[in-house]
Amino acid sequence: MKLDDIRKICVTGAGQMGAQIAIQAALHGYEVTLHDIQAEALQKAVDGNRKHLERRVAKGKMSDDEVTAVFDRLHTTTSLEEACRDADFVIEAVVEILDVKKQVFEQLDRHCPPHTILATNSSYLGNSEIAPATGRPDKVVNMHFFYPPLVMKLVEVVKGEQTSDETLRLTAELASAIGKQPVILHKELSGFLVNRILRAISNEAYFLLENGVASFEDIDRACQLGLNHPMGPFMLGDFSGLDIGYEARLEKYRQSGDESMKPPAALERRVQRGDLGRKTGRGFYDYSTNPPTPTED
Ligand SMILES: NC(=O)c1ccc[n+]([C@@H]2O[C@H](COP(=O)([O-])OP(=O)(O)OC[C@H]3O[C@@H](n4cnc5c(N)ncnc54)[C@H](O)[C@@H]3O)[C@@H](O)[C@H]2O)c1
Repeated sequence: MKLDDIRKICVTGAGQMGAQIAIQAALHGYEVTLHDIQAEALQKAVDGNRKHLERRVAKGKMSDDEVTAVFDRLHTTTSLEEACRDADFVIEAVVEILDVKKQVFEQLDRHCPPHTILATNSSYLGNSEIAPATGRPDKVVNMHFFYPPLVMKLVEVVKGEQTSDETLRLTAELASAIGKQPVILHKELSGFLVNRILRAISNEAYFLLENGVASFEDIDRACQLGLNHPMGPFMLGDFSGLDIGYEARLEKYRQSGDESMKPPAALERRVQRGDLGRKTGRGFYDYSTNPPTPTED
């Protein structure tokens, strides 16, 4: 198969990621069908995408006619069979639960044409864990976008145990064709590339905080001013949701039993108080002020 043979894309899972991945592909000329088991999720996705594109019109970056053409290419359905039966490429962005993903891939394998590539946007699951649910493991791959996918340029493309070189190449080419920049990982590794590096930075930042070396706001400032990072690790934690980092650490601690992997106390206290970051208005920083102010422990 060649890149030009990919005309129709199915995106399944219309949440934070899937909604924007779908519109990004439609913006680049692809016919896209967005699927979700919940009709409300599809409606929310369309409404959210319309707002994004209206902002582009207001800034003079798009015309009303272009917006109409994009939405003509974006279809929605709650039937997975309808969404994928003539798709050349599927991007799965359903909840991060292995059993759910396996069920979805089993259905995709059943309903898609034989040539269709099945990509998962999973943050942590390697495609080799999901591929056995299909009869086409050579056509299963990770295509990992970053939030928000309309803005973030990077896509990690990950080769699994049985992913073919052709699948890897086409996935990277498709990422470029929809305006993203792919990097290829030749091996599956938990957290892929960016999240591993992020985890290392975040672990070191908590080490410095817990050992009383510096305050979290000074650690953030140091990363901004010394490394040119747009935000430090604690503010980034607020941005992503402190519960996400907490749950990921707790799971690693449960699996390993290693005390050093316990979620840091400063993180645990905030999560237990319900201070989950920007989405609750308060985390390491208080977002009711401008600029945000550091919170007390
Ligand atoms: N949010 C992020 O920052 C981020 C970044 C990169 C990758 N991811 C990955 O993307 C995937 C989706 O994450 P999200 O943040 O968009 O989640 P989300 O909770 O916002 O959306 C998930 C959607 O999947 C739908 N869904 C559940 N079961 C389904 C099924 N069987 N078939 C079809 N749809 C189903 C839900 O109704 C929901 O609309 C996850 O694998 C996640 O790890 C998330």
